[in-house]
Amino acid sequence: MKVLITGVCGFVGSSLARTLVDRGFSVVGVDDLSFGAMSRLSDFIDKIEFHNVPFEIYSDKKHDDIDALINCAAVAPLPENQRDHYRCLRLNVALCGAVIDFCTLNGIKKIIHFSSSAVYENGPSSITHKRPAYESDLLEPRLAYPVSKYLSEEYLRTQAESYGLEVYALRLFNLYGPHQDYFRKQPPLIGYLIRSLLRGEPVDLFASEGARRDYIYIDDLLELLVILFETDGNQGFVPLNVGSGKCYSVYDILTELENVLETKARVSKGDSGQFWINYPELFDRKIPLSTDLVRREVEKKAISDISRVHKLAGWAPKISMREGLRKCAEFAREVVL
Ligand SMILES: NC(=O)c1ccc[n+]([C@@H]2O[C@H](COP(=O)([O-])OP(=O)(O)OC[C@H]3O[C@@H](n4cnc5c(N)ncnc54)[C@H](O)[C@@H]3O)[C@@H](O)[C@H]2O)c1
Repeated sequence: MKVLITGVCGFVGSSLARTLVDRGFSVVGVDDLSFGAMSRLSDFIDKIEFHNVPFEIYSDKKHDDIDALINCAAVAPLPENQRDHYRCLRLNVALCGAVIDFCTLNGIKKIIHFSSSAVYENGPSSITHKRPAYESDLLEPRLAYPVSKYLSEEYLRTQAESYGLEVYALRLFNLYGPHQDYFRKQPPLIGYLIRSLLRGEPVDLFASEGARRDYIYIDDLLELLVILFETDGNQGFVPLNVGSGKCYSVYDILTELENVLETKARVSKGDSGQFWINYPELFDRKIPLSTDLVRREVEKKAISDISRVHKLAGWAPKISMREGLRKCAEFAREVVL
């Protein structure tokens, strides 16, 4: 089986490419390196066909032999999307148009698209904090990134129906794993905590104890993707929650990591409304972003209901938080020290 991965130098794309190569798949990878890093491919670059070009340019190419496309290319950090709305829509939404052109011109029926659990922002599960998010929930996001993922889903849903495509939109909750980002301006929580603890740097935490997120380890996601490649024939658009169904506060994660790394953090607590303080351009506008919106995002509770994906693919996550954090910490020692 031959698979094309957009955003192959990102955390998800590179981890997926490595797994697929190991399992005997052929991989074509496309990335413009706007956010990703070539170093993530270094241990298997000779085993894939790699193109350093934006996918919207690459999508003019003709192929006869690709069986599935996985769309990992995006602008993923929330504040990056909020600071440049046009780029957010171009890469997170309009790029899906290039995906549809490429797939319909080249006869590729199966598309796996990375949406996000962020689509549930401002919805019943994140506001009431009383229940998990279901795929059938009404979606009413407000921030730029969640809205872009919602729009990407709507676009792909309509085109899946128009052309009879098989599209899985993965509403991924917080993903972590060895190849996650440790260095970007505002790294994801686990990357940030590991880097700070290993370097003995102070830790700034903005969320309160009540804010909780659902975390899923990369190997569990990869297992699901392999099942979806091998599952045949669901026509149409299928949104799927991909999480662990368990949620943790930032303090829970910090305690686990302190145990794993046998060290103690020097913690300072910030106001949750100030979480994007490293992005002054969001607030130094004549019409600034509301800090209340930021606070609500930081303080939200996100937990997945994964019964749909379990029923469809027989999949359930297996890696415990402690085991996942151990694997990340082991890898990160080589990268961040
Ligand atoms: N990592 C998470 O916790 C998480 C959670 C929910 C959803 N997601 C979604 O999963 C997908 C993958 O996330 P990730 O963590 O690997 O992000 P990432 O930033 O590590 O990777 C995205 C990759 O896309 C590339 N890219 C951007 N524009 C491109 C273009 N026009 N053409 C080709 N490549 C392009 C970037 O250079 C980067 O390598 C994204 O859609 C993200 O929104 C991620």
